[in-house]
Order: sequence, then C-alpha cells, then structure tokens
Amino acid sequence: MLNELVHCLDFMNGLPFFKAYKAHTWERLKIRSGQKILDVACGIGFDVIEMAIRFPNADFLGLDSSEGFLEIAKSRAGNLTNVKFLQGNGDRLPCPCPIMNLMVSE
Ligand SMILES: C[S@@+](CC[C@H](N)C(=O)[O-])C[C@H]1O[C@@H](n2cnc3c(N)ncnc32)[C@H](O)[C@@H]1O
Repeated sequence: MLNELVHCLDFMNGLPFFKAYKAHTWERLKIRSGQKILDVACGIGFDVIEMAIRFPNADFLGLDSSEGFLEIAKSRAGNLTNVKFLQGNGDRLPCPCPIMNLMVSE
C-alpha cells in the first residue's frame, strides 16, 4: 500500500502541469535568507526538499503523520543540511513548536 501511494505521489509530482504549478508557487512565496518554513503533511518530501534546494539559506521542516513516508523523505533529502523532518499531526502541531516564519501545505 505504501509503495502504491509513493508511486502515485511521484507520478503526480512528475506531471509537467504540477511541476510548473509548484515551481510558480514556490517563487511567489519569496522565501528569504534565515527564514524557517514548515511544510505540513509533507508526505515523501517532494515540496520541502525542492524548496530546500532552491532556497539553501532558509531552513525547512517537513511534518507528516506517516512514519513510512517520512523515512522515504529523509532518504531522499540525502545530505541536505537545511531540511529536517518530524512525525506529528498537522491538526495538533507538536509542542513545543519550533518558531516558524511561514507554513505551507500542498
Ligand atoms: C496527498 S499527500 C501530499 C504529500 C505532499 N504534500 C505532496 O504534495 O507530495 C497527503 C499527506 O498528508 C499526510 N497527512 C494526512 N493527514 C495528516 C495529519 N492530520 N497530519 C499530518 N499529516 C497528515 C499523509 O500522511 C500524506 O503524506
């Protein structure tokens, strides 16, 4: 089941329309150096990893309820130092909450 969902997310995120839409959205966020950004329901980390690559001077935290998805996200993030992952419920953010400048959720 997990593998099927991962394939599904990879397929969707690979569609030219989705890629263009997401790239457009990230540019509009105007993320600045030193900002901290929380991606709620980050799944396998597609958005939060792409943003961490595009904005190397900002720090990102991906939150998701699925431990399985987070393991994949961590492995895909590789050696990126500006993205971390946290397991938790987006309806009830884990406390103490890290201080964030911006919250995104796709
Ligand atoms: C459709 S996926 C989207 C993943 C990612 N944002 C993307 O665009 O590729 C939805 C994600 O929401 C997560 N999720 C659902 N309910 C959640 C909750 N209450 N708190 C945190 N994550 C949740 C699921 O585990 C799943 O990874």
